[in-house]
Order: sequence, then C-alpha cells, then structure tokens
Amino acid sequence: MLRSNPVFELYDRVRTRKAVRRWQLGERTGPAPARLKQGLLTDTAKRHGLRHLVETGTFLGGMIRAQLPYFDRIDSIELDADLAHMARWRFRNRPSVAIHAGDSATVLPRLLAHLGEPALFWLDAHYSGGVTARATAETPVLAEIRLVLMHAFGARHVVLVDDARCFDGSHDYPTLEDVRKLVSQVRSEHIILVEDDVIRIHAPLEA
Ligand SMILES: C[S@@+](CC[C@H](N)C(=O)[O-])C[C@H]1O[C@@H](n2cnc3c(N)ncnc32)[C@H](O)[C@@H]1O
Repeated sequence: MLRSNPVFELYDRVRTRKAVRRWQLGERTGPAPARLKQGLLTDTAKRHGLRHLVETGTFLGGMIRAQLPYFDRIDSIELDADLAHMARWRFRNRPSVAIHAGDSATVLPRLLAHLGEPALFWLDAHYSGGVTARATAETPVLAEIRLVLMHAFGARHVVLVDDARCFDGSHDYPTLEDVRKLVSQVRSEHIILVEDDVIRIHAPLEA
C-alpha cells in the first residue's frame, strides 16, 4: 500500500513540514495544516497530563491515527454512518479506540456520563461538504463546550475547538464573543485563547 512505502512516507513528511512552515511564515488565515493541529493536541495533552482523548467529528480518523501513541483511550463521535463504519474498521485492531456513531449533540452527553477522568476534547463535529454529514444544525459546538465545562471534571478538562475562523455567527456557528461569554458564566477561572485557527479553553496552568 502507498502509505507504507518509505519513499511516499519521506515525501509526505517533507510536504507536511513545508505546509507548516508556509503557515507559520504566512498570514495564518484559512484552515491550519493538519500536522500543526496534531502537534498541538499532543503537546497540550502532555502539558496537562491527559491520557484520554474525546473527539467529535471522526471523518477518516486522521486525528485518531496521529494521536494513537499518546493516549491510553480515544473516543470519537461521527454522525455519518458510513464514515463511522470505515473508522471502526480502520482501528479494529486498536482496543484503545472506540468510534461512536451518531450526533455528538446526543452521544457526547452519554459519553460524559461514563467519563471518570479529566480528558482532552477535540471539538470538530461540523458539516464540511462532500461526504460529511449534517445534523439539524451545521455544528453543535456551543452546546458541546457547555456540556464539557459543566461536567464533574469540567475544571480539569481541556477543550480545543477547531476552525476558529468560522466563529462569526453564520452557518449555526456562535461568535467568539458567545464562546467567551459562555466560558465566563460556567468556568470564570478558565482562560480562552485563539491561536492557529484553534480555540483553547482550560484552567490556568500552575507555573
Ligand atoms: C472536519 S471533519 C473532522 C476531522 C477530524 N476531526 C480530524 O481532525 O481528522 C468533521 C466531521 O464531523 C462530522 N459531523 C458533522 N456533524 C456532526 C455531528 N453533529 N455529530 C458528529 N459528527 C458530525 C462530519 O460528518 C465530518 O466527518
């Protein structure tokens, strides 16, 4: 298979490194390169001592694949039944990975009800055109953030939300101001940062 070809792997590494460099030297508008976001998740989990990843929006499982070495447990929620089926097949030999089919607006509360430790949340469930699914709303992200922050471990969960550039009040997205308001109501001690097209929400780290 092409992916396990060492020449392809080298080409892929060089190409992704170039894409990250271009983004870092450029104006940082539009979607950030996947490699950059993968590194952000890995670094954030290490810094906060988190070994459990919860993702909304699985798609092809690219983020799961990148995070496999760094987490003891990965739960991912996908609305599209075919994508969920494919991801289950892709990770069939990885007992640490569970793919949950359904709308994250209903599956996430069920998952949280059984979550017994602080986790890193990668909130990325949204309609993205093509084969991706669309629930009644294009994104359930504001409700997801509220649920995570109000959870029993809400003070210690870390939330990363993709596509910060979309938070302009259109296509069912809240504005960044809406997110700030929610965080200050639910977890007033938390900090909220926007960098590289990702919104980060967590308690301040002790020095
Ligand atoms: C941008 S892709 C996710 C990419 C993936 N998280 C990654 O980093 O590789 C968004 C995915 O969310 C799914 N989706 C859309 N609305 C959803 C919802 N309400 N609940 C769960 N998944 C949803 C889409 O079908 C699509 O596969």
